[in-house]
Amino acid sequence: MEIKLNEIYCEDCVSFMKKIDDNYIDLTVTSPPYDNLRNYNGYSFDCEKIAKELFRITKKGGVVVWVVGDKIVKGNKTLTSFKHALTFQTVGFNVHDVMIYKKKNTPFMRSNGYTNCFEYMFIFSKGSPKTFNPIMEPTARNGYEMLVANKKADGVNKKVLGKLNKEKVKTNIWEYAVGLGGSTKDKIAFNHPAIFPEHLAEDHILSWSNKNDIVFDPMCGSGTTCKMAKVNLRNYIGCDISQEYVDIAKKRIEDTPIQISLNNL
Ligand SMILES: C[S@@+](CC[C@H](N)C(=O)[O-])C[C@H]1O[C@@H](n2cnc3c(N)ncnc32)[C@H](O)[C@@H]1O
Repeated sequence: MEIKLNEIYCEDCVSFMKKIDDNYIDLTVTSPPYDNLRNYNGYSFDCEKIAKELFRITKKGGVVVWVVGDKIVKGNKTLTSFKHALTFQTVGFNVHDVMIYKKKNTPFMRSNGYTNCFEYMFIFSKGSPKTFNPIMEPTARNGYEMLVANKKADGVNKKVLGKLNKEKVKTNIWEYAVGLGGSTKDKIAFNHPAIFPEHLAEDHILSWSNKNDIVFDPMCGSGTTCKMAKVNLRNYIGCDISQEYVDIAKKRIEDTPIQISLNNL
């Protein structure tokens, strides 16, 4: 295979993926251009072709995280997000979860509706996910408490001393600050119009992959997924159709100190 690990390529992602072996990628974390919301350099997009290639190159048990929202056209939400999810299901992926990416600070007001503050994060898996490292969060209370054990028919609750854990698995709604200092501190990344928060990419990388795994972003833009893969000692492969964005991604990754490459082991 001519594709090298830990590189960013400038190409249309469908033709690029054709060069990747079957069952090669552990995890994809990506966000497609959708609904002409933004004018990316060289915009082009075919969801079905991308989904089919992603299915072929993903390992059994591998995961694709697909972050997407909807535009409102003449008062009507496009539901492009759901159309994409159905396409991925049709080509063979399981829709393992439908998660929410909530934005802490969103400027997009709507005069006759509530301010939209989220996008979907679809978790598509090729069979059951082979890796799940759940992210934990603190519980509101912990220690020992008298807890209801079982409710009897006479309405009297039996109480027993129970232990409340310090931590619980996070819910599937994840909230992130966006903008400079929120999404990233890398000023250069903001030359791209729609970057991921670094923490979003990192949380998925930690959840669905292990060290030395191969993390892919076929539409990598400013390179957030690849940067966070590098930081977390995963291998990465990035691709974007725009040379301008590829240059940004390469610069960001160069400026990121940690580098591991299975090629060098
Ligand atoms: C939503 S942005 C991704 C942003 C990225 N997650 C980040 O953090 O910077 C979508 C990207 O898809 C790229 N793109 C559009 N059509 C493409 C194609 N056919 N092949 C590869 N990349 C494409 C655009 O250039 C754009 O950078």
